[in-house]
Amino acid sequence: MNKIIYLDAAASYPKPGTVIEAEVDFLQNKYANAGRGVCARAGAVDVMVDGVRECVADFIGAKKNNIVFTSGTTAAMNMIARMLNLDAGKTVAVSDLDHHSARLPFVQTGARIVLCPLDDNYNIDSKNIPYADVVVITAMSNVIGMPQDVAAIVGCAKLKNPNVITVVDAAQFVVHSEIDVEKWGCDFLCFSGHKIGADTGVGVMYIKNPDNYKPVFFGGGMVNKIVGGDIIYNSAPDVFEAGTLPLTQIAGLKNAIADIKKNRPDLNLIKFMYDELSKIEKIKILSGRDSALLTFVVDGMHALDFGALIGTRGVCVRVGKMCASWIHQIMGVPGSIRISVGAYNSKDEVKTVIGYIKEIIK
Ligand code: ALA
Repeated sequence: MNKIIYLDAAASYPKPGTVIEAEVDFLQNKYANAGRGVCARAGAVDVMVDGVRECVADFIGAKKNNIVFTSGTTAAMNMIARMLNLDAGKTVAVSDLDHHSARLPFVQTGARIVLCPLDDNYNIDSKNIPYADVVVITAMSNVIGMPQDVAAIVGCAKLKNPNVITVVDAAQFVVHSEIDVEKWGCDFLCFSGHKIGADTGVGVMYIKNPDNYKPVFFGGGMVNKIVGGDIIYNSAPDVFEAGTLPLTQIAGLKNAIADIKKNRPDLNLIKFMYDELSKIEKIKILSGRDSALLTFVVDGMHALDFGALIGTRGVCVRVGKMCASWIHQIMGVPGSIRISVGAYNSKDEVKTVIGYIKEIIK
């Protein structure tokens, strides 16, 4: 990336060459629609989509037919909120770690929203999960960057209500650690491809019991047959994938998964920055030393001003509320500055950026 120091992987991960190559190869040599054609080329696309679905399933410990392709985490969360047929008589537990995408779709249903408490380190206090019909779990906040104990939270939610539906937003978690939906025991989980080095426009929704739910989008590719006035839908996952899938992005997703499994971001770079920035009086770090990212505020300087000043030095970071207003509200800051790394970042880059930060705030 030309002379840029990109410390914003948590917003969107730069694409490994293997992802770009797979997409170009698909577009130039293999392009056809999926699930609709009978020619050899269309058949090969069906095989490709099936193979990527298998790979995604394997990546999160699921079965292939429980994997639905979406356009991203936001689309998946909105689909889930609508599939659950919530209304004012139902209760949804959320937490202040939530990204707007995790909570707003449930707020829109009119359901009663209650809060899962956080402890002093901003981790979800699993022992005090309130009774709810649905519990939304942010597996890793995009501001605090600590992995949550999803299995414990799901377990405690079930103790309160054996029929609870648990929904996991794994958009940040998936970048750093393995996921096993069987072990977690959740009902739904979603993540976006672009956070792990795949293209934008493809995401994943895991659905544990697809037969319990009706689709919210209707169209081509989901119908088995229409007999008179009766519509017989396909089974999962097709029934949840009306319309043409983001095929090019799916073609790249397999290589993104292979890459992120081998090359996770080096979180020692975050620890190093944490230690160095902790020495600067004007900086208040909001994330932990063991976090997957580093979030801080600068005394007397607005986060947006900091972002602009470091931006002129060719450094990309995220600033502001980061679509996570609630955590900023409880931390009592109007916005913050976030540094996140990918496997492509080096210690030299991080040292250079520490120098720039000192220059900017002195
Ligand atoms: N949710 C993304 C972020 O945290 C966009 O930057």
